[in-house]
Amino acid sequence: MTLDTSGIIGQSPALQEVFAILGKVAPTDSTVLVSGESGTGKELMVRALHRNSKRTGAPFVPVNCGAIPGELLESELFGHEKGAFTHAIRTRAGRFELADGGTVFLDEIGEMDLSLQVKILRVLQEREFERVGGTKTYKANVRIIAATNRDLEQEVAKGNFREDLFYRLNVIPIHLPPLRERQEDIPLLAHYFLQKFCKHQNRCLMRLAEETQNILLSYSWPGNVRELENFMERLSILCDGDVITPMDLPDKILKETGTKVSPPPKVQTRPMVQGFRFPAVRDMQEQGVGLKDFFDIMETHLLKEALYMADGVKNQAAEILGIKRTTLIEKLKKKKITS
Ligand SMILES: Nc1ncnc2c1ncn2[C@@H]1O[C@H](COP(=O)(O)OP(=O)(O)OP(=O)(O)O)[C@@H](O)[C@H]1O
Ligand SMILES: [Mg+2]
Repeated sequence: MTLDTSGIIGQSPALQEVFAILGKVAPTDSTVLVSGESGTGKELMVRALHRNSKRTGAPFVPVNCGAIPGELLESELFGHEKGAFTHAIRTRAGRFELADGGTVFLDEIGEMDLSLQVKILRVLQEREFERVGGTKTYKANVRIIAATNRDLEQEVAKGNFREDLFYRLNVIPIHLPPLRERQEDIPLLAHYFLQKFCKHQNRCLMRLAEETQNILLSYSWPGNVRELENFMERLSILCDGDVITPMDLPDKILKETGTKVSPPPKVQTRPMVQGFRFPAVRDMQEQGVGLKDFFDIMETHLLKEALYMADGVKNQAAEILGIKRTTLIEKLKKKKITS
C-alpha cells in the first residue's frame, strides 16, 4: 500500500525518515508517541497515521489534554453517569466510546494530571474503562496516539509523568525535528504556503528573492512550520510586489540573522525634486531583468521623453538631457529610436 502523505511538504532526510516509520507503523495497531517542538507538524503527522491505518473509516477523535481542566478531562475521555458530579445532569458517553473502532489522539499528553495518567495506563494495558460515576466496564476498541512538545523523559525524571505510562506510550516514537534542522524544507514550504495564500488573496504567485531565501534559511524559526505559514500569509496580504525582498522581512528576522537592509542609497547628485523615488531592486525584479537591461530600459524611456518635450528637436533634447547632440544621435541610432 502506498503511503498517503498529502499535505505534508518536505524532502529533507529527517522528514523522509519520519515517512519511513509512518509507512511501517500506520497499518499496525501500535501506540505511537509523536514528539517535537510546537508547530513542527505533529498533528498533521498523527492525522496521516490515522488516514493510512486500517481504522481510517472509523472516527478520529482528538483530545487536547492541555486545554481541558483536569477535573473535566476524565469525564471528557471516559464519559459520566447522570449525577456523577454537580453538573452531570445526564449520562454522557466519553471520547473513548465515540472513537469506537477508530483512533483517539491524546494531544499534549505531557499536561495530563498524574491521577488521570493511571487511568490511561489501564486503558492501554487492559483495554477497558468505566464512565465517571459508573460501574459498568467498557471495552476500548481504539488505537491511541499521543503527542507532546515536552521532553517526556525529563518530565519522568522530574516526577511529573509516570514512567510506566511513558514506556507504554513510547512503543513507537516519532520525532519531528525543528525546522532549523531541516533547512532544505524551508523553500519548499515557503513556496507551498505562498501558493496557497496568493490563491486565497486572488493575486499572482509571489516568490522569494534569492537573498530573502538565504535569510530565511539562516533564521531559527522558533515557531517552526506554523511560524513560517503565518509569515507567508502576512506577506501575501501586506507585500505589494510579486518578489519578496529582504526589506519586506520583519525586524525580528532581520535582527536575528544580522541582516542590514540598507535604506535607498544616498547617491551624490544634485538635489532631487521632492517626491523623487529611486528605483528599487524590486522594480528591477518586477521587470524580470538584470542591472544592465534595467538601465537600458530607463535610458530609452528618458530619451523618448526628452524628444517628446523638445518636439523632436534633437539640439533641444540633448540640452534637456545634459548630453552632446552627437551623443544623443548615437544613442538614438543604437536603440533604433526615431523621433
Ligand atoms: N510538513 C508540513 N507541510 C505542510 N504544512 C505543515 C507541515 N508541518 C506543519 N504544517 C502546518 O503547520 C501548522 C502547525 O502544524 P501542527 O498543528 O501539526 O503542529 P504541532 O506540532 O501539532 O504544533 P503544536 O505543538 O503547537 O500543537 C499547521 O497549519 C500545519 O498544517
Ligand atoms: Mg498540535
